[in-house]
Amino acid sequence: MAEIKISLMLKSDACQLAEIDRVVFGGTFKAEDFLNYLESPIYYFNVAKIDEKAVGYIGYMIIAGECDIINVGILPEHRGIGIGNMLMDAMIDELVKSKATCVHLEVRKSNYRAISLYEKYGFKATGVSKNHYKEPTEDALRMSKIF
Ligand SMILES: CC(C)(COP(=O)(O)OP(=O)(O)OC[C@H]1O[C@@H](n2cnc3c(N)ncnc32)[C@H](O)[C@@H]1OP(=O)(O)O)[C@@H](O)C(=O)NCCC(=O)NCCS
Repeated sequence: MAEIKISLMLKSDACQLAEIDRVVFGGTFKAEDFLNYLESPIYYFNVAKIDEKAVGYIGYMIIAGECDIINVGILPEHRGIGIGNMLMDAMIDELVKSKATCVHLEVRKSNYRAISLYEKYGFKATGVSKNHYKEPTEDALRMSKIF
């Protein structure tokens, strides 16, 4: 199997991340958005690459020791082989380095794959935001992990 490498996002990754975002999330962020994130010291993007091609990413922000996950997504054809785990490991390493005390996220209540991934990493449900998501409308499960 081809080697999977995790690295911090580079400027040259922006177009590929926008394409992953389009396929996985319907295009929340454009390449320009990823470039803007790169300019800011509070945003972090870890990218999974196979043969130099980006196949997934995790994005998060850290402010005053608190982290919020923005997105984690893997191209459909590369799911189920451990890339989600590798990206979560990379984020946790960064949070330990940054001395973060907690990390929060929101996830569609029906997204059992992502919820299973987060539970595996010690996230606990903390509440529900009613009708948080649109198209289709769905509640968000709020989850947190305390270090
Ligand atoms: C959720 C997602 C990131 C998981 O990535 P992945 O690379 O397929 O995950 P991995 O192969 O590393 O598996 C990691 C864990 O995720 C969970 N998981 C992955 N696929 C699963 C499945 N089909 N059913 C249930 N749990 C699953 C398991 O807990 C798994 O743990 P394991 O390795 O001990 O089995 C991926 O499915 C994805 O990109 N989904 C669409 C985007 C999305 O929903 N993002 C979350 C937004 S909040």
